[in-house]
Amino acid sequence: MIYKQKLYLKTFGCQMNVNDSEYIIGQLVKLGYSTTEDIFKSNLILLNTCCVRAKVEQKIYSLIGKIKGIKESNPDVILGICGCMAQKEKENIFTRAPYVDFIFSPSQINNLEEIVSIIKCAKKKYISCENTPEFSLDHLPIKRRSKISAWIQIMRGCNNYCSYCVVPYTRGPEQSRGVSEILSEVNNLAKNKYREIFLLGQNVNSYGNDLSQSVTFSKLLELLNDINGIERIRFTTSHPKDFSFDLIETIKNCHKVCNHIHLPIQSASSKILKIMNRKYDIDYYKNIIKEIRDNIDNISITTDVMVGFPGETEDDFLDTLRAFKEIEFDEAYTFIYSNRENAVASLLPDQVPLELKKERLGKLIDLQKEISAKINKKLEGKTFEVLVDKKSKKHIENQFSGRTETNKTVVFISKQDLLGQLVEVKIIKSSSWTLYGELIE
Ligand code: SAH
Ligand code: SF4
Ligand code: F3S
Repeated sequence: MIYKQKLYLKTFGCQMNVNDSEYIIGQLVKLGYSTTEDIFKSNLILLNTCCVRAKVEQKIYSLIGKIKGIKESNPDVILGICGCMAQKEKENIFTRAPYVDFIFSPSQINNLEEIVSIIKCAKKKYISCENTPEFSLDHLPIKRRSKISAWIQIMRGCNNYCSYCVVPYTRGPEQSRGVSEILSEVNNLAKNKYREIFLLGQNVNSYGNDLSQSVTFSKLLELLNDINGIERIRFTTSHPKDFSFDLIETIKNCHKVCNHIHLPIQSASSKILKIMNRKYDIDYYKNIIKEIRDNIDNISITTDVMVGFPGETEDDFLDTLRAFKEIEFDEAYTFIYSNRENAVASLLPDQVPLELKKERLGKLIDLQKEISAKINKKLEGKTFEVLVDKKSKKHIENQFSGRTETNKTVVFISKQDLLGQLVEVKIIKSSSWTLYGELIE
């Protein structure tokens, strides 16, 4: 019997990590592996990890603990830990779980083939966590999850050092990918009938700052906008401090660049923003929102926010609630502040008790739910162009879902398979998170 190489890969964290996993699978498929959802049927287990909040890290350590039994009952199983937690924890993982075989950092995904062959031949523990001097994904095999929308990493790392955040320590300093490499990848995607590209970076607005070639994020968007076949261009994440008027003009003028901006606010108290080292105050943030809305029609704006940052008083939290009422984001990703030992905020006094953090989070979620519902209600009766990207998860017959240009999910029924097509849908019902519509034939 041929011994089948089976990979079980579990991914935690952001889109960047999910995209890294697409590269991991691409390379391992080339080495003869196929993927399995059943951990017990695998002979290579890989956890692509995140550590942005303590809870996810605890969850991963507990999963590593559970895998010990699998390793004991089948010593041929290889266990690797990669991603941000691997970079942060390094040898600590071997100390806590000596049965882990190898560890590698996000910047080492290019070397996976080599890493796996070293592990298989040498049969000893291996760790590879150096940052590479350049950021290139050129010719790296990839197995994308979608045939319609593709993630493209345009830069990695972060130089911002927000005082709560572990990412600059896990993903290293900002490194932009060369323009020609990005353009060639997107041209290839267009040839392969991809309709949408989603540009990824911790802070896409500072794209190009580290390249010798003089190119800005706006310029990159203009170049991508000219590629035939690609219909939609999205990007995340933008840092408010780098959100230039030039970029607003580009979004307005490049018709493929979608009318959706994700602009993390984090807090609306200028006092807290200062301690967070966000490098803007609330007036500056509100002014960008105003400029965006004054210049781009029908723009949707989403945000990230956290409650319970050290020293956040009731008044600071009320500032956030008030700003949310005033700004009216389309959607918000809400988090409870989590102490990360690498980040300087963990040393700050006045840590907010967990119960209070939970109470604040609940209030903010309730408010945002109301706002999102109100915004979506206004869309009822209107017709939008929708890029169909999924068949119903709930197995409802003929149900499809797609996204508006403003990144809202629209669910509708169609007897025809419309995956990958741009269609017109009239909205008939809405909730805080979803629009329900009728296909205009
Ligand atoms: N580069 C992006 C986001 C990176 S992490 C940016 O600057 O916006 C995604 C989100 O996780 C952040 O926007 C922040 O809201 C949240 N986050 C980061 N560190 C956190 C921490 N220590 N505790 C709670 N939430 C955190
Ligand atoms: Fe973290 Fe701030 Fe960098 Fe975003 S900009 S990754 S929140 S340090
Ligand atoms: Fe997590 Fe790393 Fe992304 S810490 S959020 S996987 S950049």
